[in-house]
Amino acid sequence: MKIGTLEIQGHAVLAPMAGATDRAFRTMCVDHGAALVTTEMVSAKGLCYGDRKSRELLMLDERERPAAIQLFGDDPDIMAKAASLVMEFSPAAIDINMGCPAPKIAGNSCGSALMRSPELCRRIVEAMVKEVDVPVTAKIRKGYDKTQVNAVEVAQAVEAGGASAITVHGRTRDQMYAPPVDREIIKAVKRAVSIPVIGNGDILDANDAATMFEDTDCDLVAVGRGALGAPWIFTQIEAYLTHGVILPVPPVSRRMELLYKQVRAMAEYKGEKIALLQARKHAGWYMRGIDGASAWRQRACELTTIADLETLCVDVIRAGERG
Ligand SMILES: Cc1cc2nc3c(=O)[nH]c(=O)nc-3n(C[C@H](O)[C@H](O)[C@H](O)COP(=O)(O)O)c2cc1C
Repeated sequence: MKIGTLEIQGHAVLAPMAGATDRAFRTMCVDHGAALVTTEMVSAKGLCYGDRKSRELLMLDERERPAAIQLFGDDPDIMAKAASLVMEFSPAAIDINMGCPAPKIAGNSCGSALMRSPELCRRIVEAMVKEVDVPVTAKIRKGYDKTQVNAVEVAQAVEAGGASAITVHGRTRDQMYAPPVDREIIKAVKRAVSIPVIGNGDILDANDAATMFEDTDCDLVAVGRGALGAPWIFTQIEAYLTHGVILPVPPVSRRMELLYKQVRAMAEYKGEKIALLQARKHAGWYMRGIDGASAWRQRACELTTIADLETLCVDVIRAGERG
């Protein structure tokens, strides 16, 4: 399938997650078959004001392509300028965040707050499409709240603005991440637009991906939390959808190897200190379900060097072999 001019190989993409989907993790997901990855959301305003932190979030590794960049903002001109600035990083597509519920984003009229004005959503897309020659996509929710369930209207507005695809997370802004995803709304969006629709929410294994396709008729699925500490979920989804094969979760030894590889890659560009601090949460995710996980996680919080991490990974593997 294609998103605009971008050829997509595979069924599942990585959903953007601020504070989690950094370059090292995205590369890991592409290695495991993610069809497309997206950066954490980046402030269009920050970028236009030359904020260095925003620029760091935009660096794309050659090994993680195709990769999209996600921007947030509420001003069509600033979003268009930011879109043109990020072309320096050669993204495969530019995604617009129209779903973030966090007060510091939605409270500033960005993210999910944009859904209150489909016309503004259309104008933002239109301004960006005029500025860049890569596909512009949007990521929305079911609606702003239960009184404004307007994903269909917003999807039609962004399509009219020239968007090449739309991701739908089937929850409203005030539902945050808790209640089960409403697949009916994803299906309704799919029926209402002719651009590709990416179904998102609660895909934790290959079967969830298969039923998301069946229930909604979506063109791709986006996996967020289900990929944290589990990048192999993309391999599992591909194996199941292509060959009907259910691949097991990798053994503890492989999971620890991947954790180590990911944190080493983080250290290469973030420095050891920051990488080890951020490794705590990734270690916690990779250790899900492992015997004695809470004690191992405790140790992960005390790591200060890559050598410490290596020792921890070896200890976890040895304990697994003994157990
Ligand atoms: C920690 C975290 C950070 C997130 N950051 C972003 C973000 O930067 N941009 C965005 O569009 N969505 C963001 N999301 C939403 C996810 O992309 C996704 O829509 C949501 O988690 C539902 O999918 P899932 O059930 O597969 O996790 C974030 C979600 C989480 C849990």
